[in-house]
Amino acid sequence: MPITVTIDGRTTSVEQGTTILRAAHDMGIVIPTLCHNDAVEPYAACRVCLVEASDGKGWAKMVTSCNYDVWDGLIVETKSEAVLEARRTVIDLILSAHPGAEPVQELAARYGITEPSYSGDPGDDCILCGLCVRVCDQVVGVSALGFSSRGPARKMVSPFLDPSPTCIGCGSCVYVCPTQCLHIADEGKKRVLYKQERKNVFKEFELLDCLSCGKDFLPKEQFDYVQKRFKLPKKIAQTCPTCGGPKV
Ligand code: SF4
Ligand code: SF4
Ligand code: FES
Repeated sequence: MPITVTIDGRTTSVEQGTTILRAAHDMGIVIPTLCHNDAVEPYAACRVCLVEASDGKGWAKMVTSCNYDVWDGLIVETKSEAVLEARRTVIDLILSAHPGAEPVQELAARYGITEPSYSGDPGDDCILCGLCVRVCDQVVGVSALGFSSRGPARKMVSPFLDPSPTCIGCGSCVYVCPTQCLHIADEGKKRVLYKQERKNVFKEFELLDCLSCGKDFLPKEQFDYVQKRFKLPKKIAQTCPTCGGPKV
């Protein structure tokens, strides 16, 4: 049953179960995000998507819009001074912890922050958003990544810090990483998945060549996984998307 929500003074109807972020997006209202991707379940790790929710009768709360479902009569402010100030603080904290992450620098600049306000031990560019972990688990289906430790020692890692036996080298984690700190590089007959710097290797893969054009393109692990999961014939599973296979 459709429900009514008012965002930045405009009222709209949405289906039950719609998040504030989705409802705002469908109205053309942009809310910044770092840990959100429609392909996976929300995790609300970055807090950048904060908005103000209220019932218009005295109840009001700052909520993360990516995982907060709208309810009938909800009133949302996405650009009030309180929201902008809360978001600025969150972005400042992320920038202070990860000063080298360019996408965070760009977001901070949009909020008038050129230098981080908090000092401390700056970490690498991984903001612990968990997008790589979720996409590997929920989309690829192999759960090759996870988190270790808590607090400041928390890190995104492969299980037991060893090359994950389930990682197939597909690169989906690289694609979704909002700070581009995961990398995949094809080096001759080898594919390397690494974090931040080339020396931090997660796993190396031997590449199979395309049966049609001969280009090295596909980790053996990915070939085995795709063939098994989608029951594809070898000549299709091992044909690269660039050449498109034999012409008939
Ligand atoms: S490259 Fe490995 S870790 Fe990354 S999404 Fe694919 S299977 Fe998961
Ligand atoms: S490596 Fe990238 S996607 Fe994974 S948790 Fe860190 S910032 Fe997020
Ligand atoms: S996008 Fe909502 S908390 Fe990160």
